[in-house]
Amino acid sequence: RTHISQLFADMDELGGTTVTVAGWVRSVRDMKNFGFVMLNDGSCFKDLQVVMNRETLANYDEIAATGVGSSLVVTGSLALTPERPQPFELQAAQIRVEGASAPDYPMQKKRQTREFLRTQQHLRSRTNLFRAVFRVRSVAAYAIHRFFQERGFVYVNTPIITTSDAEGAGEMFRVTTLDVENPPRTEQGTVDWSQDFFGHAANLTVSGQLQAENFALSFGDVYTFGPTFRAENSNTRRHAAEFWMVEPEMAFCDLAGDMACVEEMLKYVINYVMGACPDEMEFFNKFVDKGLIERLTHVATSDFAHVTYTEAIQILQEAAAAGHVFEYPVEWGCDLQTEHERFLTEEHFKRPTFVTDYPAAIKAFYMRLNDDGKTVAAVDCLVPGIGEIVGGSQREERLDVLERRIAELGMEPEQYKYYLDLRRYGGCQHAGFGLGFERMVMYLTGVDNIRDVIPHPRTVGNADF
Ligand code: 4AD
Ligand code: MG
Repeated sequence: RTHISQLFADMDELGGTTVTVAGWVRSVRDMKNFGFVMLNDGSCFKDLQVVMNRETLANYDEIAATGVGSSLVVTGSLALTPERPQPFELQAAQIRVEGASAPDYPMQKKRQTREFLRTQQHLRSRTNLFRAVFRVRSVAAYAIHRFFQERGFVYVNTPIITTSDAEGAGEMFRVTTLDVENPPRTEQGTVDWSQDFFGHAANLTVSGQLQAENFALSFGDVYTFGPTFRAENSNTRRHAAEFWMVEPEMAFCDLAGDMACVEEMLKYVINYVMGACPDEMEFFNKFVDKGLIERLTHVATSDFAHVTYTEAIQILQEAAAAGHVFEYPVEWGCDLQTEHERFLTEEHFKRPTFVTDYPAAIKAFYMRLNDDGKTVAAVDCLVPGIGEIVGGSQREERLDVLERRIAELGMEPEQYKYYLDLRRYGGCQHAGFGLGFERMVMYLTGVDNIRDVIPHPRTVGNADF
């Protein structure tokens, strides 16, 4: 069988030849003596127009009555039609119904709401929107691997089950082998979960960073790309309980080098996806987010803005004084909320923006303490429409400073033994970041809800199928 994508790629050679294609019916039009079937086989965004003629197609009536969603195998002659909107059509000699679709098929041709389509996780990838989103997701993943592999980074797989809370934020899903109906009890009678993973406490990873750091201190430049889990009860359009993160980690690299890598990577992925998915990008530009292509093109060709947290707070306070209403008031020391991030990147700088040097108190333990003793060498990259897309930092490489920080935060040094060892045996300056892959896909497609860029989203209260 020939893929429909190949018909589009090689139409000049294939025009006039007989080909067989197989795919799913998008629509059927019966004009009595002839009819049209729009077919999509998933190989490309475009549909193939199949033409059938009552005189030459034995089972014309069967096909004219097939429902949307049925799967067909069609053999016919490829006729070039340069005078029509579509460059060719397939004149069917034979059509076989491989699998009929029941009349209650939910993906009918009319436009359906995204909310409804979220209840159809098994079928929504047959719509234009989701076919476009999930191809871009696949191509973006490939672009990320390409970007790092071309630069000699080693891909490291970090564990899903771990005892460490890399972010120290306590947002972990516990993993248990215990009998949850009848859990062991402490002497005080409370449930004792400390033994839950074959005798250890374990959870699903929130980040592969700490293990990536191990590899960075032997391979130099490495990256992870895998699923991560957060048990935060955030029911927003940009938070998922299960999401994929890309985490490069670079030895002998400081915060400036880290930001240069973020910027280069984001531009590379934008360019790659725009080059590889022109039909999909045009669809988003027309139906999802007008101006998307122009905006992404601009991002890929201009410099990102840089601002320190302290300067950002000043900008936000001045905006508030000038009448901009924020739901959460801003003062030095507070964490930036989505509304603040979006103001900075959308209203103030109007482009992707790096915010650096956050207060130590609101950032993770591993970030390198600045000379002021109050801020850390952290960076968030904010983009219009989303807010934070990347979070990273230069890591604390000084053993004594790190040990002090772990003690201050009441963390258990025992649990971080390996991590501390890395500072004892040839430690070095190093830095890295995490890109939220779903947020990247949202950014590339203009789709504004994370539930619509994950094939089977796991958000608060939703783990169906
Ligand atoms: O800022 P975060 O929490 O940083 C880390 O986990 C670091 N260990 C990364 C590193 O330096 N190696 O998460 C990184 C990114 C965020 O900027 C965001 O894009 C995404 O991961 N992210 C989420 N995406 C979807 N749903 C959630 N609940 C997310 N939490 C974080
Ligand atoms: Mg963050």
